[in-house]
Amino acid sequence: MKLLIKNGRIVNPANNLEETFDILSENGIIKKIEKNITENSDVIINAKHKIVIPGLIDVHSHFRDPGETHKEDIISGCKAAETGGFTSIVCMANTNPVIDNEFVIKYIIDKAKKFSKVNIFPVASITKGMLGNELTEVGKLKKFGIVGISDDGKPVENASILRNSLLYSKMFNIPLFSHCERLDMTSGTVMNEGIMATSLGLIGAPNVSESAAIAADILIAESVNSKIHICHVSTKESVEIIRIAKKKGIKVTCETAPHYFSLTDEMVRGYNTNAKVNPPLRDHNDVLEIIKGLSDGTIDIIASDHAPHHEDDKNLPFCMAKCGIIGLETSLAIGMTFLVKKEKISLMELIKKMTLNPNKLINVDRGSIEVGKVSDITIFDEKEKWIVDAKKIKSKSKNSPFIGFELYGKVKYTIAAGEIIYKDD
Ligand code: DOR
Ligand code: ZN
Ligand code: ZN
Repeated sequence: MKLLIKNGRIVNPANNLEETFDILSENGIIKKIEKNITENSDVIINAKHKIVIPGLIDVHSHFRDPGETHKEDIISGCKAAETGGFTSIVCMANTNPVIDNEFVIKYIIDKAKKFSKVNIFPVASITKGMLGNELTEVGKLKKFGIVGISDDGKPVENASILRNSLLYSKMFNIPLFSHCERLDMTSGTVMNEGIMATSLGLIGAPNVSESAAIAADILIAESVNSKIHICHVSTKESVEIIRIAKKKGIKVTCETAPHYFSLTDEMVRGYNTNAKVNPPLRDHNDVLEIIKGLSDGTIDIIASDHAPHHEDDKNLPFCMAKCGIIGLETSLAIGMTFLVKKEKISLMELIKKMTLNPNKLINVDRGSIEVGKVSDITIFDEKEKWIVDAKKIKSKSKNSPFIGFELYGKVKYTIAAGEIIYKDD
């Protein structure tokens, strides 16, 4: 099986390449990257005036399978990924049952393989059942294909257990993803603290409930010389503390999600539960600092934090609605619209934060277009405008505050292991 992509502008951060070339894949592997390849092929894609990038990698998605498959299952989650240009997804452990044993891991990987070419990489929970007490058997589970550990959805509150888990993650060379939140400061809160919360009569969480947890986690990681990855950075102070830690040489990486560089808590006006998320949408100064962190390299990765919830969990009084925003189908376009188009970061930098840097974190030998590598490739039109339409969302859940937004950048093809798995018609 041969696939030829003609005349696309390749943007490949691994070698800083931004130039028009043809790409020939054979049996799922990239064979040639050259000008004017004329070889006979089974499939030819004309990518003229399109951008050709490594298949996107999302290091933070919640597929609700097993447990809440009415919100998302592995099949619909993969469909959403394909539509958004993602060829690799890290799925978080807060399923039911929790991903803390080989049976759940095997179930997820086998089901994903059966229904999609998207690579699904599970993380296991840090603590058994995500209960915060007993460490999950990381060493054993690594053999079954986990690429990280995380209790995401909540923090590991016990500092001693966190310290032990960091020692464990270092021993098995597997990244620990930390959801940083001081629950003693966020308990009872439903949005960001500030004028908007006051005017809506809702209880808000202060920025320090995130940044204080990040500072503590970083210091604990430093004390045992372990790496730590901070999930969904949303506040100004969080960016500042991570910037200082990196300068100091501490092995910290972090991600933010598209909604944290594009939206503020203004979005909650009218008690819009699709804008209810944890950490919450912050204010304008936070958004500015997140963008600064993206542009100066403090923030390494853009991850979707795709968190599907059913209408029944969103069409509720604000304080009762579930937290979460879907993101797989809009991440690239939000990055294009709010960062690249506004000249906050270059196209190369955006793609780096969605391909090369994610691969560096989870180490799955993807995220680059190179001869000899797996042919995971996304082709998109950087100029095409589209409107986010709930009816067209492939995810089973439609909980997006971006519905109705006009965005730039439309995925035209998603290719996994040399096979077209999504084509925009
Ligand atoms: O908004 C969120 N949704 N934040 C989390 O930490 C968990 C996630 C979910 O699983 O719904
Ligand atoms: Zn989280
Ligand atoms: Zn999450």
